[in-house]
Amino acid sequence: MEFTTLSNGVKMPLLGFGVFQVPEHDVCEKAVLDAIASGYRLIDTAAAYMNEEAVGAAIAKCGVPREELFVTTKLWVQDASYEGAKAAVERSLKKLGMDYLDLYLIHQPMGDYYGAYRAMEEMYKEGKLKAIGVCNFYPHVLTDFCETVEIKPMVNQVELHPFFQQENALGIMKEYGVVPEAWGPFAEGNHGIFTHPVLAAIGEKYGKTPAQVALRWNVQRGVVVIPKSVHKDRMEQNMDVFDFEISDDDMKEISKLDLGHSEIVDHSNPEFVKMLHGLKVHD
Ligand SMILES: NC(=O)c1ccc[n+]([C@@H]2O[C@H](COP(=O)([O-])OP(=O)(O)OC[C@H]3O[C@@H](n4cnc5c(N)ncnc54)[C@H](OP(=O)(O)O)[C@@H]3O)[C@@H](O)[C@H]2O)c1
Repeated sequence: MEFTTLSNGVKMPLLGFGVFQVPEHDVCEKAVLDAIASGYRLIDTAAAYMNEEAVGAAIAKCGVPREELFVTTKLWVQDASYEGAKAAVERSLKKLGMDYLDLYLIHQPMGDYYGAYRAMEEMYKEGKLKAIGVCNFYPHVLTDFCETVEIKPMVNQVELHPFFQQENALGIMKEYGVVPEAWGPFAEGNHGIFTHPVLAAIGEKYGKTPAQVALRWNVQRGVVVIPKSVHKDRMEQNMDVFDFEISDDDMKEISKLDLGHSEIVDHSNPEFVKMLHGLKVHD
């Protein structure tokens, strides 16, 4: 496994395992156990995924010491306030069966996320959160945030894949020392990514699948990737991206696939924002 170093010196694996849309306890627990057995050490969950207990159960059973794992969870919109964040971290720690988190992220730039972040800065200073960051902060939002907060976010987890490359956003993150992390590194399976002719042709040169090319392309841009799969053979395939390097010419070919926008979410759509505010993850 290769690592990136966050602005506070914490080492974060460049590749991890995401558990979005794996709500069933047994399926999620098995998937996390399989992922850890396959060599994954970074696990990415969220209060909103409703599976923190299953992740915690797998980690308790996996046999790998806690300090060798890198566990991320996220603050949901419902808890986006100073007091809400304090309570949300305790709730997540309890569900995960842990006394610290390696990375805690604001899931959406919505609600009183500045208040929430002040609470996160305090919990970071206490050592309860080893690193703090944000998700879905588009360049203008991230810029305002970084110009305002005391401790700059260490990570920004945003949608990043060959069909939505966000080079401009990566530039802003670099300027503020924020490590980019890709959610949906396979575009959640859209655009025929697993059989895409451009990715397949490039993969053939290196003896790799389109999935591996898509992950390697992001890793080579300095982006942390957290692919999700509930199939062990795919987990192993997705991990196996550190023994080849995509040439500059092939990187440029992949650049041409960019559509310049997401076809998964639209944070500028008021209905989408209302929908996220309406999603409650606890009483
Ligand atoms: N912060 C945010 O707002 C946000 C939003 C979305 C996601 N995330 C995080 O990012 C993680 C990854 O994103 P994602 O889960 O949305 O989507 P993704 O990783 O882009 O795609 C997952 C899909 O790809 C399939 N797949 C995985 N590996 C494959 C392979 N080698 N060959 C063929 N199919 C393969 C999976 O199917 P199977 O499971 O059936 O193999 C699943 O349908 C999430 O799990 C979550 O942790 C964060």
